[in-house]
Amino acid sequence: MDGPSGSGKSSTSRGVADRLGLRYLDTGAQFRAMTLWMLRHEVDVHDPAAVAARAGDPVLESGTDPLDPTITLDGQDVAEAIRSEAVTAAVSPVATVPAVRARLLDLQRRIISDALDDGGIVVEGRDIGSVVWPEAEVKLYLTADAAARAARRTAENGSGSVEATEAELLRRDQIDSSRATAPLSVPEGAVHLDTTPYDLAEVISRVVAIVEQVR
Ligand code: C5P
Repeated sequence: MDGPSGSGKSSTSRGVADRLGLRYLDTGAQFRAMTLWMLRHEVDVHDPAAVAARAGDPVLESGTDPLDPTITLDGQDVAEAIRSEAVTAAVSPVATVPAVRARLLDLQRRIISDALDDGGIVVEGRDIGSVVWPEAEVKLYLTADAAARAARRTAENGSGSVEATEAELLRRDQIDSSRATAPLSVPEGAVHLDTTPYDLAEVISRVVAIVEQVR
């Protein structure tokens, strides 16, 4: 499940995984945890060489329960810390660094392989259908109008203006879509779903129907 920020990927992926008895992986949370580590260790996140030099150091673990998707960094629960404004502002530059992507790609593929022995997994991100697992049984690309995405994200955050949130989303979309390594793109063979007119329950039902058709 790929798509830009605020398209509904997380809630949809978790809901679909829960409905279908599958595991769940939030790859955005992994990029956020890498970013948090860089910030905590005072690495200049705008210096790709400095970030690359430390890309192997953080110890990351992702839990794959859709109802409780944990993420730990050096053994510490960082589920809340990775949602801070400082991490959100720094994550896209960190995610452009090839050494960071290579490190996480390895981890993501290992988690997916293990989950395939356990019934399957819904994985969300920006490059899942294109780079991480192009052989996925079902590929989805979720979008929504920028204004709708910003309104959803602002409601989730419980603070801030919709305008400021929209500017932040568009800034991240721009960096994520234009980077050289694994940019955000519609993967070949993906079903494109515009979620603007639907509420979450409707999007989950539509995706479940698409998955059941393929299986
Ligand atoms: O999904 P979320 O908004 O938490 O992702 C945070 C950031 O991580 C994205 O804006 C993007 O820069 C990066 N990311 C990525 N590739 C992925 C998932 C996330 O580059 N597969």
